Amino acid sequence: MIEVEEVISLPARRGIILAGGLGTRLHPMTVPVSKQLLPVYDKPMIYYPLSVLMLSGVRDIALITTPRDQPQFQQLLGDGSKWGLEFTYLTQHGPGGVAEAYLVAEDFLAGAPSMMMLGDNVLYGSHLRDALERAAVPRPGAQIFAYRVRNPEAFGVVSLDSGGHPVELVEKPEHPDSPWAVIGLYMLDGDAPARARQMSRSSRGELEIIPLLDSYLNEGRLEVEVLGRGISWLDTGTPQSLLQASQFVSVLQERQGLQVACPEEIAYRMGFIDAAALSDLAAGLKRTQYGAYLERLAEEDPGVG
Ligand code: TTP
Repeated sequence: MIEVEEVISLPARRGIILAGGLGTRLHPMTVPVSKQLLPVYDKPMIYYPLSVLMLSGVRDIALITTPRDQPQFQQLLGDGSKWGLEFTYLTQHGPGGVAEAYLVAEDFLAGAPSMMMLGDNVLYGSHLRDALERAAVPRPGAQIFAYRVRNPEAFGVVSLDSGGHPVELVEKPEHPDSPWAVIGLYMLDGDAPARARQMSRSSRGELEIIPLLDSYLNEGRLEVEVLGRGISWLDTGTPQSLLQASQFVSVLQERQGLQVACPEEIAYRMGFIDAAALSDLAAGLKRTQYGAYLERLAEEDPGVG
């Protein structure tokens, strides 16, 4: 049982976007450029996980990239101030695994709980913001999200009991007995770096995320929130899934006239920037539909939509 006083005394969650990796499944496209800078329809891939952190109210964010790719991320995103955010750039030297991010970000976290999203995950749908805001409240232990997939053998999978409590975590099970994939969004407490330090590397030389989550599960400190069918979780690691994600965004935007994962819009609606700042951002993009969309938004009521 988590004590109320324990929750109140915790610092706010800090954000991490893990955008290193080799992107080998997207070669040759990713030979000269980071996967997370490739477009998903009309925006760089990293805008999608960034939007999720922003919608959760997380503004202090570490961006972990390879050393090679860091200058391009800086060129795209700057220090975050244009969107009312604060970015810290960190490097991961090789594909040392998802859990290694907690070691790379240890000083940045300074004991705070975190919300980490993988740079190639797209999450969109109804009531997502409610689920994110609930999850963002700092508390001890770990929270993850589970999503029903047709092919659980391709993912880290969590089995749930009839009450929705986690029973077992397995990485890419050959014969999965649960349809619930663990998505690339992890809310861990301030112990995560110390736990990652205790782990040994897997046969592929990585600090894997599933054993790290398992350490919380073994102590009864792992909570799982199931994301329903109203939410779409897409990954973009292969040519086919990248194309499908682009098509998904294109269809939604064309139909609704609303942008998916537009950081400028989210910054405005969340109150991180005002209408004048939004209008300035729109001016810098004025030859695009994206810029026209931002300009219209700056002229209307931020409470709508
Ligand atoms: P993966 O898709 O597992 O790895 P990858 O991006 O290198 O691609 P591939 O499998 O095609 O070689 O990574 C998932 C996400 O996590 C992706 O956004 C990259 C990131 N990542 C890192 O930043 N560092 C790592 O060490 C690993 C394993 C992944």
